[in-house]
This record gives sequence, structure tokens and C-alpha cells, in this order.
Amino acid sequence: MNHQLRVFSLEEKFELFEKADAICIKAWPEFILHDTVGGNNGIIFVEAYKKYQLLILDQEEIAAVINTIPLQYTGKIEELPDEGWSWGVTKAISDLKKGRKPNMLLGVQIVVNPDYQGKGISSFATSQMHNLMRKYNLEKLIIPVRPNNKCEYPLIDMDEYIKWKNEDGSVFDNWLRVHQKNGGMIIRVCKKAMKIEGTVSEWAGWTGKQFPGSGDYIIEGALNPISVNIEKNIGRYIEPNVWVAYDK
Ligand SMILES: CC(C)(COP(=O)(O)OP(=O)(O)OC[C@H]1O[C@@H](n2cnc3c(N)ncnc32)[C@H](O)[C@@H]1OP(=O)(O)O)[C@@H](O)C(=O)NCCC(=O)NCCS
Repeated sequence: MNHQLRVFSLEEKFELFEKADAICIKAWPEFILHDTVGGNNGIIFVEAYKKYQLLILDQEEIAAVINTIPLQYTGKIEELPDEGWSWGVTKAISDLKKGRKPNMLLGVQIVVNPDYQGKGISSFATSQMHNLMRKYNLEKLIIPVRPNNKCEYPLIDMDEYIKWKNEDGSVFDNWLRVHQKNGGMIIRVCKKAMKIEGTVSEWAGWTGKQFPGSGDYIIEGALNPISVNIEKNIGRYIEPNVWVAYDK
């Protein structure tokens, strides 16, 4: 990995916010950007917690974006909610509004600039996220991880998928493996981490695909099939993720 990489918070480099946002938009499949919880909440937490948003820079170029938010969770780690990412973002915003003291750090996303992918930056980014938890004296880092190779196996149940191993015994999924190598513990699948709904024509626009009849469809970049109902003019995608937790 290139040793020129430097890490800044958005508090230090807020002028790069729009550029960072554009990189995230480029890195995700279009439909992911239409989930029901992201939207305005993203801006609220970025504004409120600039110190918790990191940029990894290679000279003047953004190599990766790291978003986190602190929240309060006093339940058992094995019982982190099925709603994963959606729950975490909603809870953190509600804690912020109600003034509840956070005790955990939620990993919202790590996006490696597509021009920098495949160069080992994700592991460095993960360790930076972990450092934030220590720096702000939070008890744990909890992340609803989106196993990124799962989109090649949309018909396999996530509970089965996370058991898959390589010949050397390591976890099959690239992204889950990065977390595991960095000390993250795989806790459980959160089956309803993200919900995306749209009309049939919206889905056609997001995916470039036609949906002539009702049923389940495999679409590029999705971890599970999406379900389309022509009569009700709705397409629904429920994304499963995997809770991963880091101790200090
Ligand atoms: C997922 C993501 C963060 C990975 O970042 P990255 O910097 O490209 O990944 P790395 O180069 O660090 O590689 C991570 C692992 O994947 C493997 N890998 C990466 N590219 C690969 C490829 N084309 N083929 C096979 N394996 C590959 C690496 O070998 C490494 O595994 P190893 O440590 O066991 O060798 C990046 O692809 C990304 O930002 N994607 C879009 C957003 C996203 O999905 N974020 C994660 C959910 S929040």
C-alpha cells in the first residue's frame, strides 16, 4: 500500500465534502441510493458529527471515505437488531435529538474510491474506523457489514453464505474477511438491514432492466432478488447484512 496516504476528518477538510459524496455515489449501485432511511439523515449526522467522518487522501485525491456515528446501545451484542443499518442510523439520530449519551460507534460505510480499489486500502480504512472508537472512548465498534461478493450469489441464504470458507480456512467473502483479519467478530445476520421500495418504472430507471410481470428478479449489485408486484406498481428490496463488532 502507498505510504503517502494521510487521514483527515471532515472537520478539518469540510471543503472536500461534495467531492467525497460524489465518490460514494459513484461506488454504489444506483438503487442503494434510494433506501428509505439514508436521504436527509445522512446530511444531519455528517453536519453534527464532522469529527466522526474521515477521508483518506493520497496527495489531493480522496482514496477512501469513512462514515461513522456514535449511538447508545445497552442491549446484548448478540441481540443487535435485524434492521441493522436502518436501525443504527435512525437510533443515532434519535439519540442526538434527545441528547442521550452514546456508548458505541456505528460504522455507516467505508467506500474506497473505485480508482483505488483492489490495492488493500479497505484494511487501512477499517483500522481507521476502529481508531475512532478508541479515540472517542466508546465501548465497541458495531458495523452492519454488506458482504460485497454476496451479489454474485443472490439465491443463497445469508446465514449459509457467511459460513463459506476458502481452502485456507478464511472467510469466503472479501469484505467480511477484511473485518475478520482486523479483529472484527461476526455476530449475526441482520436480515432487514436496508429496505428499498420504488415504482416499477423507478426500478427500471435505477437498474436499466424491464420488469414485465410480477415475481422475483435478480439484479446487478443486489445481495438478494427484488420482488416486483405489477398490480400494486411496487418493487421491493430487503437487504440482509451481517453485524460485526470490534472490542477495544
Ligand atoms: C468493499 C470495498 C470497501 C473493498 O475495498 P478495496 O480497497 O477495493 O479492497 P482491498 O483491495 O483492500 O481487498 C480486500 C480483500 O478483497 C480481495 N480482493 C479485492 N479485489 C479483488 C478481486 N478483484 N478479486 C479477488 N479478490 C479481490 C483482496 O485480495 C483482499 O482480500 P485479502 O486481504 O484476503 O487478500 C470496496 O470495494 C468498496 O468501496 N466498494 C463499494 C462500497 C462498499 O461495498 N462498501 C462496503 C460496505 S459499507
